[in-house]
Amino acid sequence: MAARAWPGVIEHYRRLLPVSDATPRITLLEGNTPLIPSAHLAERLGPGVRLLFKYEGVNPTCSFKDRGMTMAVSKAVEEGATATICASTGNTSAAAAAYCARAGIQSVVLIPDGYVALGKLAQALAYGARTIAVDGDFDACLRLVREISDNYAVALVNSLNPFRIQGQKTAAFEVCDALGAPPEFHALPVGNAGNITSYWLGYCEYREQGVTDRLPHMLGFQAAGAAPIVTGGRVDKPETLATAIRIGNPARWEEASRAIEESAGRIEAVSDDEIVAAYRELSSVEGIFCEPASAASYAGLKKLAAEGFFGSRRCTVVATLTGHGLKDPDRAVATAAEPEQAPDDIDAIVEMLGLA
Ligand code: F0G
Repeated sequence: MAARAWPGVIEHYRRLLPVSDATPRITLLEGNTPLIPSAHLAERLGPGVRLLFKYEGVNPTCSFKDRGMTMAVSKAVEEGATATICASTGNTSAAAAAYCARAGIQSVVLIPDGYVALGKLAQALAYGARTIAVDGDFDACLRLVREISDNYAVALVNSLNPFRIQGQKTAAFEVCDALGAPPEFHALPVGNAGNITSYWLGYCEYREQGVTDRLPHMLGFQAAGAAPIVTGGRVDKPETLATAIRIGNPARWEEASRAIEESAGRIEAVSDDEIVAAYRELSSVEGIFCEPASAASYAGLKKLAAEGFFGSRRCTVVATLTGHGLKDPDRAVATAAEPEQAPDDIDAIVEMLGLA
């Protein structure tokens, strides 16, 4: 018998989402992403650690943002919007552009000029968003779109939009559905702090519904140059090569802090060097290519492990890998060895490979 086809997150989790029969389903069949068991890296964290990666890079626009955007755009259309606007470090804009194209409405995206990875810029342009590169960082872009959406007829689809959080919480549901229980720890990169807010909401709702009987500890990781929640103060000039999380004043700061506190979790900073090392390990050791910001989750776990955090305790740890590695091809090439050069000659290549 054929398995029922995956219908996208709104349809699959409609009982737990604020939708009705009147809500249009603007979907690209996002969600249902794999929870990939670590083959090699788990043992580096501790002998009792079972590590799994929630690989969000295989969503339709190659990041977790699709979960939130299917909800935000569907609700915007339900409410009669003809245009959306967002600020973005790249992934939100890619997702907004795609779902608006699908809905037949205009997408306007404001991005920090020069700080959006090439793949993400390509997506916004390909999907036909009105793409505006602002001479300012993400925080400046977010200020602008908040003010514009407050005063003009465009729907804000940043994670300040509650429907974004609703859509993204489905990732926590999927983790519990796949494992049959929540993990002991859930690690995430933190930028604007919408995603950690969403996961925590999802885990709490599943427990309230009686689907699960406990909650995980949330582990959030910011880039050291853009770590306002860790340091407890806004960062005026955030800097990190993980451009997706280059954010100095997260919109969901309070909610993220609450998730950490209520879950008895941790929020820590990881350096760019630690992020790149984790990024390289994930692709070259596990065979999972994610973007640099995504690797902050595993970089953070490594850092905690080095401090003896896991010890020999037996626990299940899920790390979300938020976006695909092809989002940022420049970084991939810059952090790896260059291709070797060879003539069109079998003997030369056999010799290079040491096969002769
Ligand atoms: N990982 C990736 C790949 C992201 O694109 C983002 C955020 C995050 C992690 C952090 O998630 O903001 O919910 O804490 N990207 C936003 C954007 C800011 O505009 O695409 P968060």
